Amino acid sequence: MTRDDALALDAHDPLAPLRELFALPPGTIYLDGNSLGVLPKATPARVAEVVTGEWGRGLIGSWNQAGWITLAQRVGDKIARLVGAAPGELVAADSTSVNLYKVLAAALAIVRADAPQRTRIVSERSNFPTDLYIAESLAAERGFELLLVDTPEAIPAALDDRCAVLMLTHVNYRTGRLHDMAALTRAAHAAGALAVWDLAHSAGAVPVDLNAGEADFVDWRTSKSPDFAVGCGYKFLNGGPGAPAFVWAHRRHAGRFAQPLSGWMGHAAPFEFTPGYRPAPGIARYLCGTPAILALAALECGVDTVLAAEPFGGMAALRAKSLALTRLFADEVSARCPQLARVSPEADAERGSQVCLAPRDEPALAYATVQALIARGVVGDFRAPDILRFGFTPLYLRHVDAYDAAVHLAEVLERGEWRRPEFNRRQAVT
Ligand SMILES: Cc1ncc(COP(=O)(O)O)c(C=O)c1O
Repeated sequence: MTRDDALALDAHDPLAPLRELFALPPGTIYLDGNSLGVLPKATPARVAEVVTGEWGRGLIGSWNQAGWITLAQRVGDKIARLVGAAPGELVAADSTSVNLYKVLAAALAIVRADAPQRTRIVSERSNFPTDLYIAESLAAERGFELLLVDTPEAIPAALDDRCAVLMLTHVNYRTGRLHDMAALTRAAHAAGALAVWDLAHSAGAVPVDLNAGEADFVDWRTSKSPDFAVGCGYKFLNGGPGAPAFVWAHRRHAGRFAQPLSGWMGHAAPFEFTPGYRPAPGIARYLCGTPAILALAALECGVDTVLAAEPFGGMAALRAKSLALTRLFADEVSARCPQLARVSPEADAERGSQVCLAPRDEPALAYATVQALIARGVVGDFRAPDILRFGFTPLYLRHVDAYDAAVHLAEVLERGEWRRPEFNRRQAVT
């Protein structure tokens, strides 16, 4: 691969025009859209309109006139298109952590009612910490046990008649490893357990088919379709820092169990102001308090940037480009950077939209190299203890960006630039 080859790939990239939707800072190669997506150009004007027009002039009337009261559902329906869900099955609300609490609690309540002898939540030790912390507290609160397996290969053996819920993250935040969601869900169901998935690094990055194309009469014991899912708004959905997350429940559960955060926005009739809680039908019961309208407006602009890929092939086209970008970057790094080992899987089918690397010899090199790259305008991040993490958002990245980033990385290492003291000072956010 030469730089000209990368430029030629960009010249023939059908998704190339989508880069124009983003306000990318000049001179920056942004490889951290898996942590915080880039600002869409439409967002500032839309948020300003919501502030000055809908709030400023419309005031309280905007709950009805501007449709604020159903915004969580409207944005949810748009996200649903990206993850294989149907309209009315998904809402945008709260954070991923809070939504995970809601759905895991609902899943545990279902198992407690249907199969009380099942007392285990099964997950991976390498899952994102917030998922494990939420599961840990729910397990303690409800009398369940949290079993953490050490490798993905150990998951099937843990799906026995003690397993209540299999709770996994689709793409591992630290390694980029992508699970086969359909196969693991089916294995959980066959074992009599429910499946809860965190799609934080999947929504907008890899194709997801929550309903798995299944008809209503499919027996859940053979179903590939998960029971519950949550995901993040500020990563590949470009919704802005702290954007609302999303929550989905399979239609077989949507009307069955109340989630534990029984706030008034999830009530069947919030404006009747009755004292007893009556959950709304369907997914609306997974709402809790008053939605953050400004944040939802920004999230909608971000989701629209991903939907803008639909005329060009949608998620399948984004996935193909994402794989091309991660492959190109990983191959160039392998050829140029003997100091680094590849952590993310080589097989396309097992890799999300990120490339993770680790130092072969000097662990201190990882954090400092990321800082040295940022100083050169190549933004990735560091994940303790020793991972250099580079996320690839196919909406706004070019093949030449992946190529140039690898060249910068090789230069930082060859020249020992990372040893400079200013790159070795740890900041709060890494
Ligand atoms: C897999 C995964 N789940 C959850 C979270 C955190 O969710 P939040 O802080 O928005 O609740 C993250 C954050 O990066 C994540 O990577």
